[in-house]
Amino acid sequence: MKTKIQELKQKFNIELADVRDTKTLEELRLSFFSKKGYISALMKELGKVPAEQKKEFGQIINGFKQELSDRFDEARRELVEREEELAVNCAEAYDESMPTVNPGGSYHPITLIQRELEDIFRSMGFDVEDYNEIVDDYHCFEALNIPKFHPARDMQDTYYLDTPNQLLKSHTSAAQNHIMMKYGRALKEQNRPIRAVFPGRCFRNEAIDACHENTFFQMEGIMIDKDISISNLIYFMKTMLSEVFERDITVRLRPGFFPFVEPGFELDIQCLICGGDGCPSCKNSGWLELCPCGMIHPNVLKYGGINTEEEPYQYTGFAFGLGLTRLAMMKYGIKDIRVFNEADLNALSQFVSK
Ligand code: PHE
Repeated sequence: MKTKIQELKQKFNIELADVRDTKTLEELRLSFFSKKGYISALMKELGKVPAEQKKEFGQIINGFKQELSDRFDEARRELVEREEELAVNCAEAYDESMPTVNPGGSYHPITLIQRELEDIFRSMGFDVEDYNEIVDDYHCFEALNIPKFHPARDMQDTYYLDTPNQLLKSHTSAAQNHIMMKYGRALKEQNRPIRAVFPGRCFRNEAIDACHENTFFQMEGIMIDKDISISNLIYFMKTMLSEVFERDITVRLRPGFFPFVEPGFELDIQCLICGGDGCPSCKNSGWLELCPCGMIHPNVLKYGGINTEEEPYQYTGFAFGLGLTRLAMMKYGIKDIRVFNEADLNALSQFVSK
C-alpha cells in the first residue's frame, strides 16, 4: 500500500504540473477526492489490510489526504489570482501609456461604439435620433411617470441650470416623449411602427472614480406598434449584442424597477470571459448586468400621445437604455472610466473601428 500511495503522489505531482486553470484543477481534485476517486479506492483497500496494520495505514492515508488537500488549496489560490489578473488584462491588452498609433487622428471609443450600434439598429429598421443635452423637468421626469418628489429621482440627481426648470439630462429616456410626439402620427395614420434609437451624453451628480463619472453616454431605444411584447425586446437585444460582440450572446431578464416601464427588467448577458462558469469578471455569477429595459408604461405612452386603449389603436412598446460607456469599457477592456473624458491622446487614439 505504501508503494501505491507513493505512485499516487507521483501521479498527482505530474498532473498538477500540467494544470493551467481552475477548471482542470477541479477535474484533478475530483479524480482524487470524488466517490470513485483514488482516495476512496485506497480507503477500500484499507478494509483488506490486517487488523494490526489498520491504524498505521489509516494514519498514512489521512496524512496523504491532508497533504493533497493543502496542495490543492494552494494551487487554487494561485490560479484564481492568475485568472483574476488575466481577466483584468483581457480584451486585447490595452495600455493607456502606449504611444499614439494613429498619427492621422482617430475616433473616440464612444464614437466608434455609437456608430457601430447605429449601423446595427439601422439595419433592423430603426431611425437614429439626436436630442438635447439641456432638457426640462417635464421631459426628463414627469413625462416618464416620475412625478415631483418621487424617490426614483434620487438615483438621477443631476445638474440644474439657473434658468428655472432646466437641467442636464440624466438619462436618454428624456427623449422618449419627443420621439413619440414626432412619430406618433405616422404610427396611427400610416401604420408605421415607431422604431428609434437615440444616443446621447448624460450627466449625474457623481463623485468620480474608476467606475463613476458625472458625464457618460447612453443609447436609448424604443419600439412601439400593435402587439409588441417582451419577446420582441429579447429578440432585438440578443441580435444587437451578438453583432456587437461578434458571437452568439445568451441573455436573461431579471425584474428591475423604473417608473417608466412596466414590467421593468435588468438584462444580463452571459459572461464573455468564462462563458457562464463563473470568474472574477462576473463576480463568479456567470452573468454581467448590461442594460435596463422593459415594456413602456401606459402612462408614458399616453403622455406621448400614443393610444393604448381605444380600438383599433391599442399600442404597446418596449424601451431599453444601453450604457454606451459601459459597453465600450467591456468591448475594449478599458478599466478606468475617467479615460473617456480626460482628453489624453495616447490613451484615446488607440482604438480603431473594425
Ligand atoms: N433611463 C434608465 C436609466 O438611465 C434606464 C432605462 C431605460 C430603464 C429604458 C428602462 C427602460 O437608469
